[in-house]
Amino acid sequence: MEKNINIPKHIGIIMDGNGRWAKSKNRPRVFGHKAGATALRKIVEHCRRIGVEYLTVYAFSTENWKRSQEEVNALMTLFKTYINSERKMLLDNNVRFMVSGRKEGVSESLLKAIEKLQEETSKDYKMTLNIAFNYGGRAEIIDAIKKIKDSQEEVTEENFSKYLYNDLPDPELIIRTSGEFRISNFLLWQIAYSEFYITDTYWPDFDEKELEKAIYSYNKRERRFGGRLDAE
Ligand code: IPE
Ligand code: IPE
Ligand code: MG
Repeated sequence: MEKNINIPKHIGIIMDGNGRWAKSKNRPRVFGHKAGATALRKIVEHCRRIGVEYLTVYAFSTENWKRSQEEVNALMTLFKTYINSERKMLLDNNVRFMVSGRKEGVSESLLKAIEKLQEETSKDYKMTLNIAFNYGGRAEIIDAIKKIKDSQEEVTEENFSKYLYNDLPDPELIIRTSGEFRISNFLLWQIAYSEFYITDTYWPDFDEKELEKAIYSYNKRERRFGGRLDAE
């Protein structure tokens, strides 16, 4: 990266296009998901290198259960494999692992593996990798409201995020791969003023160069947050 580039503190990525990538190669969708996991490894390492503090990636939505049993099973197995295969890389790079999403529907053994890696990586970290898994933005807001009902606190825009799955700063930049211009229920509360970057590249082909392109594009944006820059 060039000098004087403003690196977003928190980047969110909708990792889309695994299926189409596989189709373009006449391979099964699961082959695309495996390639997607490899792509994620490189992006995590690169984010750590350039100083991103939080990376939230959308891996499985609350709507993705609608897919074939075969694909759902493969995605569950792949996440379990990912947890084992990335453990060393995450520890070596001081990356904290966390997951945002509902537990319902996720197997006990996967929940256990998640918890173990969260615990193991919770100390001395320099970056946080937050995996949105069995995640829906609406589900997260509903789940937050249920927690609030049990608390005595007055809820404000400032303290609401405390009740979300993980209390992280709002992402400055949201990337979606594979050319779809929609949010698909990702981080609805947190993206109020996020900048968007959409690329046609399928997720398995999204690499360090593509990430840097997104960050350069972000650097050209003029964020106004509803105010105006040319104050009189
Ligand atoms: C993204 O790739 C990964 C998941 C949603 C699990 P897709 O599986 O959505 O790939 P496309 O959009 O069908 O190409
Ligand atoms: C969003 O992609 C979810 C993930 C990337 C995990 P989808 O492929 O599920 O979204 P739609 O169906 O195109 O909106
Ligand atoms: Mg998709």
